[in-house]
Amino acid sequence: MNIQTLLNQRIQAAMVAAGAPETAPALTRQSAKVQFGDYQANGIMGVAKGLKMNPREFAQRVLDKLDLSDIAEKVEIAGPGFINVFLKNTWLGKELVELRTSDHLDVLEVSNPETVVVDYSSPNLAKEMHVGHLRSTVIGDAVVRTLEFLGHNVIRQNHVGDWGTQFGMLLAYMERLRAENAEISMVLSDLETFYRAAKTCFDDDPEFAVRARELVVALQSGDEDCLKLWDEFIDISLAHCEETYKMLGVSLERKHVMPESAYNDDLQNVINELTEQELLQESNGAQCVFMEEFANKEGEITPVIVQKTGGGFLYSTTDLAAVRFRQHTLEANRVLYFVDARQSLHFQQIFTLSRKAGFVKPETQLEHMPFGTVMGSDGKPFKTRSGTVAKLSDLLAEAQERAYQLVASKNPDMEEEELRNIGRVVGIASVKYADLSKNRTSDYVFNWDTMLSFEGNTAPYLLYAYSRVASIVKRSEIDVTSLTGDIAVVEAQERALAMKLCQFEEAIQQVANDGMPHFLCAYLYDLAGTFMSFYEACPILNAEDEVKNSRLQLALNTASTLKQGLELLGIETLERM
Ligand code: ARG
Repeated sequence: MNIQTLLNQRIQAAMVAAGAPETAPALTRQSAKVQFGDYQANGIMGVAKGLKMNPREFAQRVLDKLDLSDIAEKVEIAGPGFINVFLKNTWLGKELVELRTSDHLDVLEVSNPETVVVDYSSPNLAKEMHVGHLRSTVIGDAVVRTLEFLGHNVIRQNHVGDWGTQFGMLLAYMERLRAENAEISMVLSDLETFYRAAKTCFDDDPEFAVRARELVVALQSGDEDCLKLWDEFIDISLAHCEETYKMLGVSLERKHVMPESAYNDDLQNVINELTEQELLQESNGAQCVFMEEFANKEGEITPVIVQKTGGGFLYSTTDLAAVRFRQHTLEANRVLYFVDARQSLHFQQIFTLSRKAGFVKPETQLEHMPFGTVMGSDGKPFKTRSGTVAKLSDLLAEAQERAYQLVASKNPDMEEEELRNIGRVVGIASVKYADLSKNRTSDYVFNWDTMLSFEGNTAPYLLYAYSRVASIVKRSEIDVTSLTGDIAVVEAQERALAMKLCQFEEAIQQVANDGMPHFLCAYLYDLAGTFMSFYEACPILNAEDEVKNSRLQLALNTASTLKQGLELLGIETLERM
């Protein structure tokens, strides 16, 4: 259930009944302070101004039309015309029983599901995935899971870079190895080394460079042998990605790959359409679109180049074709792009041009969801100790090892197998959570000690909190599936916990709207803390029957909300650690 939506609708209806225009927003939010109640509507003042009325007077008229007696204890006017709502404990208790018994944590599936295309991960296949791909992959996947949980129709698009001049060099190197009878798949098992070796040949050996250029031309003109070689390379590179996705617990599969090359045959059509619409202009032999929106103060416009001198197409051309495909074939209502903030201008241009060219319907939303860079403690983009870009697979292996050492030192008696499993879950969770819990628009510093800490808004803290709640429920030795009876919200800590539990849907709605999983992380961290205060103040297992039964249900609700929330973030939980 979504209290905010519920109250907002009711207050809005009362506002309209009191004379406000249909579109007047009630602006109902969770209150910032307890004295303002649980929720506060801030929309009255703006509307009263429009009606040329005294805001407090208008607020009183709204209250006269507003009946919240079924859910609220008290509704009051405060300050210049805020409406403060204090919810009833009995109502919260009932909602929590609903939450416990529904199989979807009482989150209603949206009544108007949208088709949301999500472009995420999308690495270039010439190299192995590195730390720079972590954010797009992990944040995109959390948003995808959340949208699906809310009932939207989500289409994953892994827009991998599998085309371009660097493939000539890689194919030339494959060809050379083949001539030397080397075991290609062995050499390709480390793509990073392979790329560097190919690059060295390209830079140092002019004959090799010539061959590399020939192969680019052959590839682009559809030469069969060349395409076979390329296919083989792409297949191995994708397999590397898939290993990383599996390790990370990311839901991307082969069927979600929609590579750049898939649009090759459509690129000329894009150019033709832009020509027909008289949007193209030649500049130094290249085909460009100049849009006034992208002029600087001096009036100079940064153009979108869609075709190079000589006829080659670009990253932009492919993205225009992708927009058309997503609109016309996938029938998207919303397209989300989880891509580095440094590509902001590119996406603003693609979106503006797509609208001008009619590639998308006016009501379709195109949203770039930018994110900052993963930094090292030196304030520069994160690198390995040897100074190279950190390979994602190595990083994840290190995370698991570090987490294992940490857990092993805390649990000397635990079996090796279980320790390894906990190490895996905690290690991966720590890396993902460190990324997810920060506002994605800012850079963040990659730091092993903070991400593996058991204190603060971290994965180990939350996983440990979950396992504690789960163990309380388990120790009760009550078959929780048969738990019935009321949930009594009496003590202040019970109320705080009840309130938090009822706000789960609001948190995930924010993730879905803004593509920002850190809202859910902050919510789960708060929930865990609120539970701990409740547990300190309100004994569960030693309480007498009815109270015990009620508090146990609160604990059970906490456990399932934490578990579900972490699952939406793509994080596995542990029953003990
Ligand atoms: N492959 C690109 C890169 O690594 C990201 C692609 C993002 N998606 C898109 N539709 N352009 O920078």
